[in-house]
Amino acid sequence: MMKLSHELFTRAKKFIPGGVNSPVRAFSSVNGEPVYIASGKGSKIKDVDGNKYIDFCGSWGPLVLGHADHEVITAVQESAAKGLSFGACSPLEVEFAELFCDLVPHADMVRMVNSGTEAVMTAIRLARGVTGRNLVIKFDGCYHGHSDQLLVSAGSGLLTNSIASSKGVTDATISEVITLPYNNIEKITKIFKKYKNKIAAVIVEPVAGNMGLVPGNREFLSALRSLTKDSDSCLIFDEVITGFRFHAGPYSSLIGITPDISTFGKIIGGGMPVGAVAAKKEIMEQLAPLGDVYQAGTLSGNPIAAAAGIATLNALRNSNPYPHMEWLATVFANKVNAFATENKLPVHCRSYGGVFTIFFSSKTQLCNMDDVKTCDTEKFAAYHSYMLERGFYLSPSQFELNFVSMAHTEEEMNQAADAVLEFFDIVRSE
Ligand SMILES: Cc1ncc(COP(=O)(O)O)c(C=O)c1O
Repeated sequence: MMKLSHELFTRAKKFIPGGVNSPVRAFSSVNGEPVYIASGKGSKIKDVDGNKYIDFCGSWGPLVLGHADHEVITAVQESAAKGLSFGACSPLEVEFAELFCDLVPHADMVRMVNSGTEAVMTAIRLARGVTGRNLVIKFDGCYHGHSDQLLVSAGSGLLTNSIASSKGVTDATISEVITLPYNNIEKITKIFKKYKNKIAAVIVEPVAGNMGLVPGNREFLSALRSLTKDSDSCLIFDEVITGFRFHAGPYSSLIGITPDISTFGKIIGGGMPVGAVAAKKEIMEQLAPLGDVYQAGTLSGNPIAAAAGIATLNALRNSNPYPHMEWLATVFANKVNAFATENKLPVHCRSYGGVFTIFFSSKTQLCNMDDVKTCDTEKFAAYHSYMLERGFYLSPSQFELNFVSMAHTEEEMNQAADAVLEFFDIVRSE
């Protein structure tokens, strides 16, 4: 029963475009209607109709400690009681910056902003300001927020023939961005040969999470590092998802590849709106007020976001939940994959650390967006609604990640895997 959710969605559609404040929440890619969430605690959420779910969306990543974590909520409450925002300097932003820079080895400095989109926008402007160049290279299937310059996709035909992935993005913007296939060293090498001295930045999700789970090959990420270094352009790692997801630090330090600039969001705000740009001092000092690259924000570094971020990062550092989350995702993936293999089903679950995606494709080597496009999205939609009915809230798209938190248990992972197998069984006998 989703009577109240349906009523809320009907009301919402009258005053909010599509009824949602972010498109993927509309459930249109899973042929459904959004569930309205009333509350969450640990690994579970409850909707307005009283249905309970084990949550694998985790607000799209930030809730690595689970919902309403005691330490985070207490930190927010204590800070909120003193005032929500001052538009002036306050102590917690200093504490946040010190802690963050301690945990992110290549960050001498950090600038807090309010979202991942804002962090990436700033990083691109910074790279252009530092290099004095315009051209930006990105990869098909990576998502970097909704700023104009990053809503550009690969066109068909010519390698450099980009197209807008949204109306309203101008031709002038498109002409300054090239979109290439992920994990393809040959194509980016060619582009560097051709445009070497024009490239301001290469931006990449080092583990792509926006086409489902597609890790960047080490050789690919190393190639990006050496190509950018050799041509004095900036390598930007977009760690909005990967930052603090696989250990208490950036993904870059796990793989030993140091980008020039990194962007963060999600986990570092513990569920509050936040983003951050980080780099070495020489680069960060180009930002206003020290440098000529302008960036600002009324609510940037506000005490509530800083408080939630500090509590989250401290908890991650002190409790190291990463082996636990990795184990949970592995338990789930192994069970799903054993069944799929045994029954020769065109589906597999890929997990890495505490994240996973079930790909409804017969292709097992999914390395880029073209590979991922082989997935059967109708099957995914049926799977999603089956799981929702069974009490498992998954990210509502084939091309997204699911997140395990510190609060999930092995029993919950087994329950979820059992429900997936039941779905497979139904599909198999159709
Ligand atoms: C890798 C990546 N970068 C940037 C963003 C944009 O972040 P936000 O939604 O906070 O603007 C996202 C959002 O999902 C993301 O996954």
